[in-house]
Amino acid sequence: MDQLPAAAVVILAAGAGTRMKSATPKVLNTVAGRTLLGHAIAAGRELNPSRLCVVVRHERDRVAAEALDFDASVLIADQDEIPGTGRAVQCALERLAADGAELTGPLVVTAADTPMLDGGILAELMRSHVGGGNAVTVLTTHLANPTGYGRIVRHGGAVVGIVEEKDATDEERAITEVNAAVYVFEAEVLAKALEGVGQDNAQGEVYLTDVVRIAHEAGLRVQGIAVDDSWTVEGANDKVQLAALAKEMNRRIVEDWMREGVTVIDPATTWIDVDVELAPDVTILPGVQLHGACRIETGATIGPDTTLTDVEVGEDASIVRTHGALAVIGPRATVGPFAYVRPGTYLGEGGRIGAFVETRNATIGAGSAVSHLTYVGDATIGEGTRIGAGSVFVNDDGVHKHHSTVGDHARTGSGNLFVAPVMIGDGVYTGAGTTIRRDVPPGALAVTTTSQRNIEGWVLRSRPGSPAAEAAAAALAEHKDSAEKGTGE
Ligand code: UD1
Ligand code: CA
Repeated sequence: MDQLPAAAVVILAAGAGTRMKSATPKVLNTVAGRTLLGHAIAAGRELNPSRLCVVVRHERDRVAAEALDFDASVLIADQDEIPGTGRAVQCALERLAADGAELTGPLVVTAADTPMLDGGILAELMRSHVGGGNAVTVLTTHLANPTGYGRIVRHGGAVVGIVEEKDATDEERAITEVNAAVYVFEAEVLAKALEGVGQDNAQGEVYLTDVVRIAHEAGLRVQGIAVDDSWTVEGANDKVQLAALAKEMNRRIVEDWMREGVTVIDPATTWIDVDVELAPDVTILPGVQLHGACRIETGATIGPDTTLTDVEVGEDASIVRTHGALAVIGPRATVGPFAYVRPGTYLGEGGRIGAFVETRNATIGAGSAVSHLTYVGDATIGEGTRIGAGSVFVNDDGVHKHHSTVGDHARTGSGNLFVAPVMIGDGVYTGAGTTIRRDVPPGALAVTTTSQRNIEGWVLRSRPGSPAAEAAAAALAEHKDSAEKGTGE
């Protein structure tokens, strides 16, 4: 980005967002895995301002915490009890001054509820502002249905004011050019004009939009810059707008990845968060959600019907019908179908987590396979080892979790229980149905010997007339027949 001077970026996030009808503050709702506030801060940061100030009031602590969590260098300004976007900006100016900011030159103001606004549009607005020698530059767009927005009033092309929906005359309400709530102000003009803004309007608020009229009346240059792509300035005021914005942002993210060489079979059912990274020649099958900081390497196939959050997937790996979080899947490894891959799972190169397998805090070495119906919790499994079907790493004694270790090239039988903590050495075999409670040295065969008892005729005596008894009687009769024939020869 070229070096345009911005005194500061101010982001308004103090409003209650009542139209959301939610206990969650409006600006903490997420779109594409990032809060509305996070999107606003990211866009503002692209201007490289010397200071970025977020104004808070409603749910002050939660909103401030999110702002600082997203970007530790933001300044938090508290709005007082006087309501309105104009008052919010005044509070920001005070906070900036207290921080030693020199309040001269262009100052950018945006609202925290317009998630598709990006740094590119802000930079364009700055260029128009500086290039035109403007006192105020306001971003606008034309909407087929402008309901709810402030309308841009022009006389002979020049912007003379902004009137809010609730204060507008019928004639003004018919105007389709709306205020996007994104502005560049000369800081001194802004501060002075705000001193003259009252609360005499339908909402009893100090409107930031009144600065436009005041600047115009003072003979200063006010310019309205209209963007064609109205999505970029759309506010998420209610849950309907929020979902529409999320869908559109996702459509663009998915399209961008396809242009980078990612194969997406069904863009309509593919959801990709902003911070996800995909390599060329990744294939995404229908019904996939990639959240958080997922990173998928080239040649990997994800889906169908898979949700991954903060998962790294290596080259040429395959993840089918899986729910996974905070895990690392190695190159050429295969996962699923129907796997539950929980935090702390590391699957080595060419490894396998198969059908109906759940893993957590589990390191499974290269070429090792946990193929069927198994729980691996708090375990380290070496390389080239196979864990038999239907096994459980029993990691929890009811109070504490314990860790188990299995060596390289082991072969454990089906239906094993590994009661942690245990160490199973390299090259160990275990029998089917073994309960491992003690360490097994390398190369040993571990078996649990409890002899089987058959109580003959029990079903015939105790469940007479049941289908089981009838089937057993028939089988026993046939057995007797063939035994007689056999002896006759
Ligand atoms: C505002 C504009 C309107 C514009 C619309 C675009 C004003 C008076 N109106 O209306 O012209 O078309 O945005 O989306 O500016 N906020 C504060 N403190 C407050 C009130 C609001 O910080 O006292 C913040 C909110 O958190 C929000 C932003 O300012 O992020 C806009 O507030 P909102 O109530 O959504 O304003 P709109 O009615 O949408
Ligand atoms: Ca709004």
